[in-house]
Amino acid sequence: MWASLWLLCVGALLPGPPACHASTPASTRETLHFKSWLSQHQKQYSAEEYPQRLHNFLRARRTISRHNSGNHTFQMGLNQFSDMTFDEIRRMYLWTQPQNCSATRGNYVRGTGPYPPSMDWRKKGKFVSPVKNQGSCGSCWTFSTTGALESAVAIAGGKLLSLAEQQLVDCAQAFNNHGCQGGLPSQAFEYIHYNKGIMGEDAYPYRGQDGRCKFQPEKAIAFVNDVVNITLNDEEAMVEAVAFHNPVSFAFEVTDDFMMYRKGIYSSTSCHKTPDKVNHAVLAVGYGEKDGVPYWIVKNSWGPYWGMNGYFLIERGKNMCGLAACASYPIPQV
Ligand SMILES: *[C@@H]1O[C@H](CO)[C@@H](O)[C@H](O)[C@H]1NC(C)=O
Ligand SMILES: *[C@@H]1O[C@H](CO)[C@@H](O)[C@H](O)[C@H]1NC(C)=O
Ligand SMILES: *[C@@H]1O[C@H](CO)[C@@H](O)[C@H](O)[C@H]1NC(C)=O
Repeated sequence: MWASLWLLCVGALLPGPPACHASTPASTRETLHFKSWLSQHQKQYSAEEYPQRLHNFLRARRTISRHNSGNHTFQMGLNQFSDMTFDEIRRMYLWTQPQNCSATRGNYVRGTGPYPPSMDWRKKGKFVSPVKNQGSCGSCWTFSTTGALESAVAIAGGKLLSLAEQQLVDCAQAFNNHGCQGGLPSQAFEYIHYNKGIMGEDAYPYRGQDGRCKFQPEKAIAFVNDVVNITLNDEEAMVEAVAFHNPVSFAFEVTDDFMMYRKGIYSSTSCHKTPDKVNHAVLAVGYGEKDGVPYWIVKNSWGPYWGMNGYFLIERGKNMCGLAACASYPIPQV
């Protein structure tokens, strides 16, 4: 399914036949590497498209080896995005329009600490569902939403469920969400609250494209009682919420370098910190500190082979890439 989606989208999105860039011809070794990467990711290209893909791949390969020989808190590596340009990635996976982050009113009242030095909901019990894959649809916000609610239900004593992202893609438009074009977890929690529930993954399977709403009330299995919005830029409140309450949905700005993340603590000088620039939603499931650098432990929705088994660490305490611009979590009804 992934492979066919991929071909469909690339075919639909590339403007005309790709230009073949004049550059040093690839060595046999480089070509072999690209071929094994292609088969690993089950990708195939026409003779027309192949040279541009190879070119992108070799450029990523060079960027990665340059980065990894430098002194950084994180390492880069090849992954499913390595033959794409960032423009393509933006159109296929990220929000292309700013979402209403700054309009979200904060209602979270923070205490004064102290907070435990580290936390990881994955190690506390069965509270975090396996990493999922959004495919080529800007639906990250639906995965951030289901992830937070799945955990909330489990922490409140329920079972660890798997909830239906596709319902949010298809049905949550009245709350300023836009299917594959973006949305916000806080707005999706509001939708689930007023809609009186969300169905399970099995009953409403993920398709990774916009569709007609097929919600069936009698099949709803998880419910939202209330939504907690964390005050704009209050990263300390996010720490408190993750320490004492629940994994927290947040948004941040993804830039080119993030796509090549492999492991370690991501930190960037190319991203912004303002709410209008955030373009991807994810789920903070914990935090910690290594060699004096504090970090968040974050669940992504790009499959289990991206990053560290589908997770990444990002520097904490600096509003890195605007990560404190738009954070929220649900209070489940159980
Ligand atoms: C690497 O960077 C860190 C933090 O900027 C610095 O403290 C350290 O001395 C650097 N190490 C080397 C080998 O340059
Ligand atoms: C939380 O944010 C959502 C959407 O961003 C908004 O609709 C809701 O009113 C906010 N909740 C509170 C209690 O302010
Ligand atoms: C932001 O909120 C306004 C007012 O509710 C709405 O008209 C607009 O479509 C929203 N923008 C997005 C991207 O959801």
